[in-house]
Formats: sequence, C-alpha cells, structure tokens
Amino acid sequence: MKQQVVHILSKVVDLPEDQLKQLVATPPSREQGDVAFPCFQLAKALRKAPPQIAQDLVEKLNTQDLASYAIEKIVNMGPYLNFFFDRQKYSAQLLSMNITELLQPAQVDHHPTVIVEYSSPNIAKDFKLYHIRSTMIGQALANTYSALGYQVERMNHLGDWGTQFGKLMAAYLKWGDDETIKANPISELVTLYVKFHEEAEKNPALEDEGRLWFKKLEEGDPEAVRLWQWFKDESLKEFSELYHLLGVEFDHYLGESFYSDKMDRVIQMLKEKGLLEESEGALVVRLDEQNIPPCIIQKSDGTSIYATRDLAAAIYREETFDPEKILYVVDQRQALHFQQVFSVLKKMGYEFAHDCEHLSFGIMKIEGEIGSTRKGKGLLLNDVLEHAVQKALDIIEEKNPSLEDKEEIAQAIGIGAIVFNDLKHHRTHEIDFKWEEAFNFEGKTGPYVQYTHARICSLLRRAGQAPTEIMPHSVFEKDHSWELLYALQQYPSVLVETTKKNDPSQIAKYLLDLCQLFNRFYAQERIIVEDIAEQNAKLVLSKKVADILKHGLSMLTIKAPEAI
Ligand code: ARG
Repeated sequence: MKQQVVHILSKVVDLPEDQLKQLVATPPSREQGDVAFPCFQLAKALRKAPPQIAQDLVEKLNTQDLASYAIEKIVNMGPYLNFFFDRQKYSAQLLSMNITELLQPAQVDHHPTVIVEYSSPNIAKDFKLYHIRSTMIGQALANTYSALGYQVERMNHLGDWGTQFGKLMAAYLKWGDDETIKANPISELVTLYVKFHEEAEKNPALEDEGRLWFKKLEEGDPEAVRLWQWFKDESLKEFSELYHLLGVEFDHYLGESFYSDKMDRVIQMLKEKGLLEESEGALVVRLDEQNIPPCIIQKSDGTSIYATRDLAAAIYREETFDPEKILYVVDQRQALHFQQVFSVLKKMGYEFAHDCEHLSFGIMKIEGEIGSTRKGKGLLLNDVLEHAVQKALDIIEEKNPSLEDKEEIAQAIGIGAIVFNDLKHHRTHEIDFKWEEAFNFEGKTGPYVQYTHARICSLLRRAGQAPTEIMPHSVFEKDHSWELLYALQQYPSVLVETTKKNDPSQIAKYLLDLCQLFNRFYAQERIIVEDIAEQNAKLVLSKKVADILKHGLSMLTIKAPEAI
C-alpha cells in the first residue's frame, strides 16, 4: 500500500521516492485512512502552511487515475493527506499474489553478501541450552536475509582450538580409556576435562602439561593432531544430529583451527603498523583511547589466543566474500571481546570493521535453571528437546489420538514451542522458559501459531479445493476482514524491519498479531456458506493467512503441520 502511495505521490510532489518512503505513515486507525502523508516537510520548500499544502495536493492527486492504484479517495485532514484504498479492488489484487510476488518489492537489488556467524559451539563439550539462542537467532536472520535476496554465508565458528584441547589431551593420556570414550564420546571427554581441573587444583604442574600439548598441536605434532581430530569428529557427529533436529544448516564450518595458519600474517601486520607492545612477556595491542583493556594477541609461551583467531577470521571473511555486513550472534558475555577485536581491526586501518556487528543476546533459563560449563553441569539442549517432544505427544494423545504422523507432528510442536519462545523475545532480553506457558495453545506461543495455521488448513480441506479465481467481494469491505488484509500486506515490511534491526522477534510478534486478527475474523464469519462467491472470497483470504503464517514460521525455522 505504502509503495502505491509513494508512487502516486511522486507524480505530484518534487521529492525523490526514497524520501517519500520515509515520510508515509500508518494512521492510528483505519477510520482515518490506510496510509497517511504528513506535509510538514514540504512547508519550508514551498513556503506554505502544511494544511494548505495538503489541500493543494489533494486537488492535484484527484486529477490522477486513482482507480489504477486501487485508491478510493484521498482526504486532507489538517496537515495530513489520508489515503483510503478501494477495499474490494485492493484485496483482490493482493490476494492474487503469491509469496514470491508479494516479497518482490522488498527484495534488495544486487544480492549483497551478508555473513551470519552463529551457534559456534565448542568441541568436546556438551551443546548446552544457551547455545540454542545463538543457533536459532542466527538461523532466523540467515533465513530472512535470504528471503529478501541477500547472498547469505551461514558460518559456524566452531570452538576447536585453544589451550583447553591441550588440557584434554593431557587428561586423556593420563586417565582416558578408548572403549568408554567410543561408547559415549562427548560426555566422557567432558568428564576427563572436569577431572583435569579438579586434579590441577591439587597439582598445578598439570597446567603446564596441558599448555605443552596445545603447543604441540600448534606445531603440528602428529599424535596431538590425531587426538584433536578424533575429539572433533566425535563432537561434530553429535552436533549434526542436533542441527538436523532443529532444521539448522550451515554453508561453512570454519572453526578456530582453520585460522591457525593465518595468524602469523596478522601478527606480522600488527608489527609493521607498530601496534604491538610487550606486556609481561605477552604481545598486546593497547586500546587506551577506547578506555578498554588491551587486546592480547600472543601469550607469553608463544601460543595464540581466541582474539587473534577472530582477527584472522574477520580478515579472511572480508577478503574471501567481500560482505556488506558480518554479523556475530554471540552471547553478551563476549561483548568486550568483540569490542576489542573490532577496535584492533580499525586501528589496522580496516574500514570493514564498521560493517562488523556483535549481535548479543541474554541468557536463557528453564524454570529458573541455568547451567555452568566448566564443571560439566547445566541443562543439556538434547534433554530439553526430548522432553518438549514428549510433552507435545502427550497433548496430542489427549486431544487428538487418531491423528496421523503423531511423532512427526509432536516433534514440530515440541521444538516449535521452545524455538518460538526463544525468538519472540527481543534477543537482548533474558529468557526464563516456563513449560506451561510455552505450550499454551491459546497463549503467545509457537503452538498457538501452528494451531491457527492447522485450523485454516482443515477448513480448506473441508471446503474442498481452494478457489483459484480471485474476485473483488463485499466481504473484504468489512472492518474485521480489512484489518486482516491490512496486516497481510505488511508482511514484507516486517521482514525488512527484521533485517534492519537484526531482530527476529519482529516476525514472531507479527505472527501472533496475524493469528489474533484471523481468529477474530473467524469468530465473526461463517466461512462455509450457501453463496459460492462469498465462500470463495473468505476461503481465499483464509488461505493467504495460512500461507503467510507458514512462511513466517519457516523464517523462524519452525515447521507448520497441516493438522494437529
Ligand atoms: N565458541 C564460542 C562459545 O561457545 C563462541 C564463538 C563466538 N564467535 C567468535 N567469532 N568468537 O562461547
């Protein structure tokens, strides 16, 4: 709608379309019109009072062919121009578009590249509950950018390098047993790692042994490399299963180890630019002017560090993909780390540092419980997901025991409940997940959206084929239909907002609103009626709501079963 208004305005107002786009607004209620245009901005240039400008513009606009824009009338109210659409005509136009056609105007032109880095768990460690936030926020952003025509590189920056693997090797060589590890790789490796820390408290010399093994790994010692590869392969097997369950996919698994041979160049560049300083045997870049602690580049024993690998990774990404943005979906505890890394890149003269953004997020608890990693405690994502699927299955058994494909649907609902609950909050908020709340089919939940979608699908099944011919109809005139149609045409701009703010909760909230509008419509209208034209109009509208609910859920990586 806004686009159509911008287009007709551009014929009579001497402002570029881009600027007009910024100015058009949504009036508070449909009684005041569908799109508003405030005339304040024009006052200075035209040396006239805004209400006068509004009046002049109405006269000029009325000489245009309003009908070809599906505009019924334009009214000036004080300094505003209010556009009223021809509800019947506009609805028929909108409803005859498929999703691709609908999204087309919101698409970016030249497919700029966006790198989204997300999930990035540490190998030989459990995939903890808090990793789900990075994983699902990142995947949702990747989906949305992609739907808007960006070239997206989905990247997993696996934590697969660092002193901790030296410690793990030392622990394995002392206490490890191949058979037990093979039977239960990650949990055994975690146990070994925990034991290492317990023992090292009594015997600090162990720490040196750990460091030595990491040094060996960095130097390419075959035994160290073999063990490391083994730990990594086993971890990836488990992570892949989880990703599969969640519907998450990556284009690149470029873990920290990938950058192990790309760090010397970074250190060399830092030296040449005179940015490196020695501090207690380590090499650092001072960031005093930013008022933040120095960024450590190399430890006193000559081994590399997390930040150095991030510098190498950022430069690699820039050189390989020439991205418009690099997004790092990582929890808020790493805010200082990214501030340091981006600052060092700026000091090195890399302009692209301004295109790097740390998208931080708050922690997630379940019924108040959170996990710590070091001691190997905390909730495991896998257990939580299993519990969720079981809960969904129990609900189905109780409410709809004859449903086909129960297991598959329970999986969609159970996982959907958790993921939706995660994504409906602004990412920076802390989340306390409550089982009863997240599974409330009438609350602000994934199951509520899924259920509304399935309800429409069942309606369409009952009515037989959805009609293909879409005609203007008086049913679209009614306020509760028009509100729904109005929301449908807003969908592309919701996706655009999501990418502008890097905030998938925009989509989740929109879907909840759309469901509410549909349910209101459904409560007031009988869909299956005598009059075929009327029934068709209602079915077409319902079908479009279902399509958008399904598409919106898919942006959040949530499935939309056709029956529940
Ligand atoms: N592996 C880290 C963790 O689990 C997250 C990595 C974040 N990404 C980065 N480029 N440093 O905490």
